[in-house]
Order: sequence, then C-alpha cells, then structure tokens
Amino acid sequence: MQNRNVTVIGLQWGDEGKGKIVDALAKSCRYVVRYCGGANAGHTVVVGNEKFALHLIPCGFLHKGVMNVVANGVAFDPGVALEEIAALGRRGITLDASNLLISAAANVVMPYHKLEDSLSERQLGDGKIGTTARGIGPCYADRAYRMTAIRVADLVNPDALRKKLQTILPIKNAILAALYQAQPLDAEKTAQEYIEYGRQLAPMVCNAGALLRRAAARGERIMFEGGQGSMLDVDHGTHPFVTSSSVTACGVSPGAGVPPSAVGQVVGLIKAYSTRVGAGPFPTEQANPTGDRLRQRGREYGTTTGRPRRCGWFDAFAVRYAAELSGVFELALSLLDVLSGLKEVKVCTAYRAGGEVLQDYDPDAVAAAEPVYETLPGWAEELGDCRTFEQLPKAAQAYVKRIEQLVGRPVGVISIGPERSQTILHNTRIEDLA
Ligand code: IMP
Repeated sequence: MQNRNVTVIGLQWGDEGKGKIVDALAKSCRYVVRYCGGANAGHTVVVGNEKFALHLIPCGFLHKGVMNVVANGVAFDPGVALEEIAALGRRGITLDASNLLISAAANVVMPYHKLEDSLSERQLGDGKIGTTARGIGPCYADRAYRMTAIRVADLVNPDALRKKLQTILPIKNAILAALYQAQPLDAEKTAQEYIEYGRQLAPMVCNAGALLRRAAARGERIMFEGGQGSMLDVDHGTHPFVTSSSVTACGVSPGAGVPPSAVGQVVGLIKAYSTRVGAGPFPTEQANPTGDRLRQRGREYGTTTGRPRRCGWFDAFAVRYAAELSGVFELALSLLDVLSGLKEVKVCTAYRAGGEVLQDYDPDAVAAAEPVYETLPGWAEELGDCRTFEQLPKAAQAYVKRIEQLVGRPVGVISIGPERSQTILHNTRIEDLA
C-alpha cells in the first residue's frame, strides 16, 4: 500500500518559506517530524496578527492531534527547546508529552560546541563558513567521533551524564585552551545545568524511531519537515560551505529511523529568486541594487541570526539538481510577490565553466561557474490579493510555467504573502493541502 506521508524540503540555500507550507499540511498529519539540523533553522508561521518564529520545535504545534517529533538526526539544544516551549506557553500553546516527543538518540548541543563553532569561525577569518554559531558542526562532529558524543538519553541519566562529562570536558578544555586560549568549562556545573534540562524534558524523551515505524505500519500520516536547504546538504551541497547534516529527502531515513519507503511524496520548496546566508559560491548573486531590492521587498534577514541574506536570480539549474536528488514530486513556490515591479526577471538555465556549458550540476564546479541567463518580462502589479492562478498577471503566470519547464516538476502551490490565506493552490496533487 502506498503510504500518505509527505516530506517537505527546501531546494535552495534554506529560508524558502517552509514554515507556511508545513503548517498548511500539518492539520492532516498525525506526526510532524524534524529529522535534520537543529537550532540553526528558523521556521516562521504567520496566523492572522500572530507570528511564530521557531528554531527547534517542529511546525505542527498549532494543530490539535498532531504529535511533534524531534528525531534522532537533529542536533538538539535542550536550552533552546525549553525556551521555545516556555515562549509558546506564554502565548497559550502548551507543549508537553501529549504533543511533543524527543528522540533519546538525538545528539545534544553542549556549551563547548557553541564555543568551538564561534571561535573556529573567528580564527578562520575571511575563510570562514559563516555558520549560525549554534554549535551545529561541532555537535555532529562528536556524533561521528562517537566517544565524545552526548545524546538525549544521557540527559535523563544523571550518573551517566556526569561520568561522560568527566571524560569529555578535559579533552574539550584542552583543545579550546590550546587553539583559542579559552577559559575551561566546569564539568560539575555543566552536568548540573544539563541534568536540570533532562529533568524537565524527561516525560518527552522516547524511542522515536520505533514510534514512527509503528505509526508508518498503521498507515498514520507522517510529515517529515526538512531544515535548511538542499544546496547546504553536507554531502550534496556546495561543500565546504554547507551545514553538517543530510537535509535532503535522502536524509529522512537515517535522520528519523524509518525505512526509505516512509518518505512519501516529496514537496520541494523554492522561492521565486535565490538567497544565501553565510559564505560560499552563489553564481546568480546580485550584489547590486537588484539584490538590494529583493532583500528589502522580501525582508531577507536571517530568522536565526538577523544577518542580511545575499540575494540573486532564480537558479533553475541548481533547483533541478536538488529536485532530482530528492525525487521531488511537486514544487511549492514562495515569495512570488517580491518580484512585482521589476521590468524584467532573469532565470539561470545552466552554468558555463571552462568555456563549456555543464551537462550535469556539479557542486564542486559551482565556484568557477558562470550562470547562463534567460530574460523574461516582469510585471508591475502587486500579487497579495490574487487567489487563483488566473488572477496572476500574465507575465507572472509565464514565469511560473517557465520554472516548471526548467526544473521539470509542476508547481502545485504558490505563496504570494505571509498570511495563510495568501496561498494559491494550482492543481496541487498533494493530498489534503486544500
Ligand atoms: P551551520 O549550520 O550553523 O553550521 O551553518 C553552515 C551554513 O549553513 C552557513 O552558511 C549558514 O548560514 C547556513 N545555514 C544554516 N542553517 C540555515 C538555515 O536555516 N537557513 C539558511 N542558511 C542556513
């Protein structure tokens, strides 16, 4: 039997507007699962006058009957999670074991991870990655290194946590002092802080993989909510200017402990232009008044760090690659309204490198690549009040159709503003999206 699951991922460099589509789909799902990344992500959901900007809690929190799951693939920062739970509580939204579960196997972001992240970036100077400084890379490095990893299961076992920290902290302190002359962290103080986090989170800690596999076997609908964007994937993005987890649909299975068949239909989120935060190649970047205009109209400043995002034209060559990699079923296009008022819009259809047009997208060739552009007519009208595809200006319709052709996937959903109502369903085949 074909399952009804859905995976929502970004196909660019993150910030594609996933929060809105995940929220729209959540009401028909029993589980909303984060399987990658951590507090480096920023998901925004707007309902009426209320705006929710979250980093770690899955986006199903507004819907009754949805179980939000932080799965094993997440770099889990317990302090951030508890802050988000408390902030939502002040707004009348209760999160407890009835609607939020955390995998015992998720790796924990520790204070030394955040230090390593920010100090190593400082030392790299101009060569830095431009991370969010949330300790993501060092946490995943310890996951791979194994003996220095702390997992959520350790937070709820004070003796085990103390013992591990007694081994790990001297190593971390020695490294931090030798490389960055940092002050040592105190093992007992750190243990106490994290034991307290564990005490508060204990009712939510579970074997999330088993839970999700059982749910999948029963045919209960699961949504896997991606973080960041495919071009930041640790294996398939523009390495080394990437994040440290598998953020494409290929990461769902290891990141959530479910078989690949549980991934379901993959919705690829794109925005109508491109943005990137942090360093790394970005062939369609417009470091000029066009880019400034996109930043201003699109309010392109990081949800997590507040940094101005680099802005540029839509890169259909990169998006096609990302869509193929994750087996995308349908596209959801956001921020089309931001392009209003431009005389013409450009789309990158291919890259040229060493005098030749590349046949296949190659993340390692991006730095030396020149974009090949196609120019389309722009439109003057604002789009915020359009509710059907036919109400969009003809030039905007043509732009959407051209994206569909170049990416090789249909656009089923078009977002033309932050409100839930500012969404056009365009022959979507995603179940229960309406
Ligand atoms: P890290 O994930 O904090 O290690 O950052 C690595 C790279 O990914 C940097 O370029 C960040 O700006 C970028 N990044 C991480 N998370 C996000 C996100 O949610 N949206 C956009 N960029 C992100």
